[in-house]
Amino acid sequence: MGNAKCDQPVGVFDSGVGGISVLKELYQVMPQEHYIYFGDSKNAPYGTRPVEEIRSLTIANVKFLLEQGVKGIVVACNTATAAAVRTLRGMYPDIPLVGIEPAVKPAALQAGHPTILVMATPMTISGDKYKTLMMRYEQKADIIGLPCPGLVEFVETGNTDGADLKVFLENLLAPYLREIDSIVLGCTHYPFVRRLIQEIAGERVRIFDGGNGTAREMRRRLKEAGLLSAHEGLGTVTFENSLASEEEIELSRTLFQKNLF
Ligand code: DGL
Repeated sequence: MGNAKCDQPVGVFDSGVGGISVLKELYQVMPQEHYIYFGDSKNAPYGTRPVEEIRSLTIANVKFLLEQGVKGIVVACNTATAAAVRTLRGMYPDIPLVGIEPAVKPAALQAGHPTILVMATPMTISGDKYKTLMMRYEQKADIIGLPCPGLVEFVETGNTDGADLKVFLENLLAPYLREIDSIVLGCTHYPFVRRLIQEIAGERVRIFDGGNGTAREMRRRLKEAGLLSAHEGLGTVTFENSLASEEEIELSRTLFQKNLF
């Protein structure tokens, strides 16, 4: 049986609107939960900032969500996870807190020693967490890390299929297209441009992202803590953004409704 705490919302945050791709997965996996999504678009992108700065922005986001009374938190940002998840776990050992990391594992475990391109922010690619992940799978696959500065900004302005974005992605991906079998979307903004990436890379290339795995991990953690909602019917989704404008909330709602495949 659920208690009052079970009815509290799940908090989800990102440097901006990208984490809405993870929120969509959470809503698929746990549609009965209530959610508060916080996008720190005022400070986006995080991925080109120094690690200390990302860490303090991340801690502030978590504090904000806890003040809203959330029962658990999803760090829906690879960059913030890389920079701060260990610190956050130390600060809040009793709160279900799940981060996201590039989905290298399912991509690397495909048959035939695949060549994988991991697209992520410069901060994620240069971080220790990513290096550890690479080392774990380097026997199974050839893994190429591709920092993609500038890509987040397209999504932040609501541009997910423009001609300028297409040129940007073509230039970015061109040097790798001959050799790769798979692409890992290692930043939560990128699933919003997945269709364009697939079009450029061709149907032969498999695309992976960590959103669904993260959502299932959150369900597991909530269940373990006895915090799954017993509420029947669909939960609510509330959007908050540090830019605090109606346009930003509207963009958040549009992205939440967007079909990503
Ligand atoms: N969406 C974030 C991620 O998953 C970061 C984007 C940014 O650079 O702010 O890495």
